[in-house]
Amino acid sequence: MFAVLSILLFFTRAFSRLRTGKLAAHKGVFIASHSIDTLLLVSAVVLAVFASLNPVNQPWLMEKIILVVVYIAAGIVSAKAKTKRVQVSTLLIAVCALLAVGYLAGSKSSFIL
Ligand code: HEM
Repeated sequence: MFAVLSILLFFTRAFSRLRTGKLAAHKGVFIASHSIDTLLLVSAVVLAVFASLNPVNQPWLMEKIILVVVYIAAGIVSAKAKTKRVQVSTLLIAVCALLAVGYLAGSKSSFIL
């Protein structure tokens, strides 16, 4: 649920910034987005602990955590970007990271590690 909310808010803010930027600048949307990203990370770590999954022994999980951090960081950089070029390139990085996260969640088979 937090992953779905995080992705919905991410695209709402990204597309708003590419147009008028009004919705992205809304304090409530900003606070909700950062709170949900934090809850996503915390709940996912709790899930991993409950499932006795240690990222050190589960390469797919380690890659997933790294990619989720990349997705969140790309969102933060995109939000602070002054030019459309940086906004669009960080948006593309986040979309690629999300696609890879989705693949790892489904396959549980790592890319590199
Ligand atoms: C955008 C972020 C994320 C998305 C879209 C996502 C997606 C998913 C999906 C679809 C599943 C269900 C897979 C299945 O039932 O086979 C899942 C399970 C899981 N996710 Fe995530 N996830 C995200 C973030 C994270 C993060 C940050 C962690 C790191 C701690 C994590 C850890 C787990 C664990 C441990 C499971 C359960 C695996 C199992 O025992 O089957 N997820 N995730």
